Amino acid sequence: MPSQELIEAAISARRRAHAPYSKFLVGAAVRDAEGRIHAGCNVENAAYPEGICAETAALAAMVLAGGREVVEVVVAGGGAAPVTPCGGCRQRLREFGRDGLAIHSVDPEGRVMASHTLTELLPHAFGPDHLSRKAGA
Ligand code: THU
Repeated sequence: MPSQELIEAAISARRRAHAPYSKFLVGAAVRDAEGRIHAGCNVENAAYPEGICAETAALAAMVLAGGREVVEVVVAGGGAAPVTPCGGCRQRLREFGRDGLAIHSVDPEGRVMASHTLTELLPHAFGPDHLSRKAGA
């Protein structure tokens, strides 16, 4: 189970979401290898495809802070079904997370609705290892 701190970071971020078009608020919080928490919310745009997801924003905050490895993720969404990262965000998480990375989905009150590993959400993923010189030899 994720720590209360990580859950609360995701819920607080969700409250800051800019989602006037979909009205679907999402917050995400990632814990890095140093134990630090970085959060993000979805930021929509009048030019719809330019919007970004909460997970992408959280990863950008982590990179800015110098983090390069994600060890746990909480996504806070609304609605009846647990919100899991979209396909693009799964790939972005793959850049910084290992196969067993835990990704928890919580409701707006912080109750854990589902937990998955990155491998479950993105099996047979392409990742940084594919670009290593050894693999490409
Ligand atoms: N969204 C996220 O921020 N994260 C997810 O995991 C799923 C979807 C956002 C994108 C868009 O602003 C809104 O939710 C509706 O798709």
